[in-house]
Amino acid sequence: MINKIIEIAKEAGQVVRDGFGKSLDIEFKTNESNLVTQIDKASEKLIIEYVHKEYPTHSILAEESGLSENTSEFTWVIDPLDGTTNFAHGLPVFSVSIGVQKNGNTVGGVVYDVMQDIVYSAEAGGGAYANNKRIKVSPNNNLQRALLVTGFPYNIADNPEHAFERFVALTKVSRGMRRLGSAAIDFCYVAKGVFDGFWEVHLHPWDICAGKLILEEAGGIVTGFDGETINIFAVKILASNKHIHPQMLEVINNF
Ligand code: IPD
Ligand code: CA
Ligand code: CA
Repeated sequence: MINKIIEIAKEAGQVVRDGFGKSLDIEFKTNESNLVTQIDKASEKLIIEYVHKEYPTHSILAEESGLSENTSEFTWVIDPLDGTTNFAHGLPVFSVSIGVQKNGNTVGGVVYDVMQDIVYSAEAGGGAYANNKRIKVSPNNNLQRALLVTGFPYNIADNPEHAFERFVALTKVSRGMRRLGSAAIDFCYVAKGVFDGFWEVHLHPWDICAGKLILEEAGGIVTGFDGETINIFAVKILASNKHIHPQMLEVINNF
């Protein structure tokens, strides 16, 4: 199935790439920061049509059209364009993210970095890959030498879960903090050792599903802020190379 997920992620990525820099119909979702464009919708439509054709009994959970339950134990969890704000502003950092779950466990995940043309992929138990080359997390176990990444939810003005305080605390004790604007790419950059850790609050299942599997298959871990295992519906996400996880937990809980 992984080759099928890759195939459709790349096709959707082509739609996104073709739309980049073109005139956009922008609509607001929850507020003026939370955008959706005709390209998000076109990408999602293409992916859903593909699933319907190839796997007519599978369920779908997609960002723009929600949950459509079916009879199968498989569910496709789809973010048709992760990084819409970047996309709409002409910043070439965005992805297509597709995870497939079987009875609630992610069995396959693909994040397609559209402008760099890099396919990140993983199957449960099979390792993680970037364009078919095996990737692994960094060996760094020192938070002071760690490069971290985060993101902010669209309701950041309300400072949910003390996101600002945690941002300050982690920035002070690490080598640096970045904010790229595509959570799916953030997970993959931890998976390939670019970043050592990633944390964010109020992500959605479609931001998490594929990236979490890719990172875990690259040797990393993803937990809540209590260090416990999470599923894709979790509110607080801490993802790392595993080695700096205890140090990040310490800071995230004592800001
Ligand atoms: C967003 C991106 C961003 C993250 C936001 C997400 P979207 O997804 O992943 O990096 O900080 O929380 O909502 O809206 O571009 O699909
Ligand atoms: Ca997203
Ligand atoms: Ca999206």
